[in-house]
Amino acid sequence: MLKASDLKWWQKTIAYEVYPKSFLDTKGQGTGTIAGIASKLDYLRSLGVGAIWITPCYKSPMVDNGYDIEDYYAIDESFGTMEDMDALINEGNEKGVRVVMDLVFNHTSDQCPWFVESRASRDNPKADWYIWRDAKPDGSAPTNWRSIFGGSAWEWCKERQQYYLHTFAKQQPDVNWECPELRRALFDVANFWADKGVGGFRIDAITYIKKPAVFEDGPADGEDGLYPVHAATANTPGILDFLHEFKAAVCDGRDIFTVGEANGVSADELDVWVGENGVFDLLFEFSHTHVPMGDAELWCRPATWTLTDLKRALSASQASTATNGWYPAFFENHDQPRSTVNFFPAGTPVKPASKALGTVLLMQRGTPFVMQGEELGYGNAEWSSPDEFDDVQTKGQYEFALSEGDTPEQALAACRRFSRDNARTPMQWDASAYAGFSTAKPWLPVHEGYAEENVEAETADPASTLSWYRKLAALRLSRDELLAGDYAELMAESEQVYAYRRQGEKSAAVVLANLSNEAATYDAALVEGMELLAGSHGETELGALRPLEAVVFGTGEA
Ligand code: GLC
Repeated sequence: MLKASDLKWWQKTIAYEVYPKSFLDTKGQGTGTIAGIASKLDYLRSLGVGAIWITPCYKSPMVDNGYDIEDYYAIDESFGTMEDMDALINEGNEKGVRVVMDLVFNHTSDQCPWFVESRASRDNPKADWYIWRDAKPDGSAPTNWRSIFGGSAWEWCKERQQYYLHTFAKQQPDVNWECPELRRALFDVANFWADKGVGGFRIDAITYIKKPAVFEDGPADGEDGLYPVHAATANTPGILDFLHEFKAAVCDGRDIFTVGEANGVSADELDVWVGENGVFDLLFEFSHTHVPMGDAELWCRPATWTLTDLKRALSASQASTATNGWYPAFFENHDQPRSTVNFFPAGTPVKPASKALGTVLLMQRGTPFVMQGEELGYGNAEWSSPDEFDDVQTKGQYEFALSEGDTPEQALAACRRFSRDNARTPMQWDASAYAGFSTAKPWLPVHEGYAEENVEAETADPASTLSWYRKLAALRLSRDELLAGDYAELMAESEQVYAYRRQGEKSAAVVLANLSNEAATYDAALVEGMELLAGSHGETELGALRPLEAVVFGTGEA
């Protein structure tokens, strides 16, 4: 059994995702800056945060808000300069908030000089750096794969008279990892950033880097006649060889951690991906976010599900990292809707829901990842028309829903429910205009509830979601069993309560969260000999939970 003293720094901290375009604007331009992040390090420390994953802030045409990188060695002007970034990394290291950079290594922007060169001819030095294929004899695309953002995954290039593959938007051509020079170029990028003293890397869309040996059509699953590129290419055998090479070239011998984004890897495969023999320290797999969204990730065809489905997914991930590797716990990120909407039936009161789910998150075994704004406890924004969305995927999902025969109202409802823009609205600092995020009109509308749900107001309110997060963060970081102890699910059959026990070497805690909007009961023997360490509703009656109440009990010594 592990003890807190056995853990590495990134295992005994809380990680926080910063979406830089929406965090804090110090330039009065309506989009966030690196200097804005640096000015909030003390705020992050107050939440127990020791690592911030910053989504891409490199030079980019911003078709996918930075996930289309033009220059891996430059900061996009809108965010500031390389000096600003160096200052953030250094100041963060001094204050104990280490910067985690996002490495987008499955694709670049179509404006990246590598691609500009590659597309120019079939025999230039970078001709093989991307995935080029001839047309079918009738001139159509090489396969019927649908890109993740909708439409064909192939785009025609006049100069080469060939198609290139794009798993995501057509402005995001996939690079060719089979080409050793390309791999070397990517590893150089990672080493450049590691040498600056970052605390780690989040590695984007990593399951797509290995393509199958043979490219062939798949059975259409929509009216558009296309087959999901995900089904054709995700997690292709041989992928781990590339990643072992990455690990040896970049990570070994450094005090950093890596977290791969691995849609398509299931919990039972984790042992070859993380830990002793793995390639990363942590892996974001999506078995639990797929519970409401469905594996196909078609927003107009969501899954029907119950709480036990969600709990089973989370416990399976826990089981797969119980003795090997480490789990990155999360409910939100910049690709997900707000969790208070995603994991609860419509009409559930948002504030208590956010505290109950936040309890589940912050008490899990692993390193919790909090998405900016999640700690303030609000729901999705109120989008009234499809034109209000900025996100490239939302536009694709809207079009897809229409092509499947949905009405415009139904298509909009699906986007309101699942749009990635829900997590990307500006951070809410105070009740002033634009929530204190900027003095100029922000690039996305500020969430309607910002006058109450903001950092300033919630700091002053002991019953707020933010105060609850701070309390639980401090609790987590002070108790051995919450940091390092084992995880065992309790009441697995309950459709109301998510409960688990954290067992440490000398201490234990029991977490009970009523995720339903009705009163629930539990067997008081589960917490016998323990005291209440934290209660979302204040004092609590043993054996009973009010709607959406969450409690943490623990042994006296920790
Ligand atoms: C990842 C990112 C997402 C992005 C996509 C393409 O899934 O998290 O935001 O759109 O990769 O880079």
